[in-house]
Amino acid sequence: MKTNRRTIIYPGSFDPVTNGHLDIVHRAAQLFDHIVVAVSANSQKSPLFSIEERLDLLKMALRPLIRSGKASVDSFEGLLVHYAARKGAVGIVRGLRAISDFEYEFQMALMNRFQDSRIETVFLMPDEKYTYLSSTLLKEVVRLGGDIRQFIPSVLVPRIQKKLNPKKSQPFVS
Ligand code: PNS
Repeated sequence: MKTNRRTIIYPGSFDPVTNGHLDIVHRAAQLFDHIVVAVSANSQKSPLFSIEERLDLLKMALRPLIRSGKASVDSFEGLLVHYAARKGAVGIVRGLRAISDFEYEFQMALMNRFQDSRIETVFLMPDEKYTYLSSTLLKEVVRLGGDIRQFIPSVLVPRIQKKLNPKKSQPFVS
């Protein structure tokens, strides 16, 4: 059934989700009716968290938005534009943190447009405090016993800690 709801897809690896990703979801929620946060199941990268774990973490982090019907989480296989078309989405949203993201994002956006010109890509900038944040850096910091409380929702800290640094129990609880 066709609706007037403007759905946008926010795709990524989300290995794991960070506050930078959540910042983008909240910004997109101001502009679109519904955001599907879509975890790619055929990433070239070797993810640390399984698809189920990444979906679980996203669901925990986005509980209020999911409950309100503003967001949902999902995984997809195959081409992103095919998935976006199946979902009836108006486009794809991606975060741009710095110039260094630009080339890769530009290539992807144009390749996606070549594959399906109906699917627009829009870019949103996260708060500047997340400019240097990435899932990769976050994982390294946890593994080495650093403090990540500023970078992920507090409900996720124990799960991420357990996966990456199980020996270090409750290091951030004072
Ligand atoms: O968070 P990431 O790893 O930068 O996200 C990259 C992602 C998942 C958005 C991209 O690899 C993707 O769209 N994969 C799905 C397969 C696809 O459509 N590839 C062609 C992209 S031009």
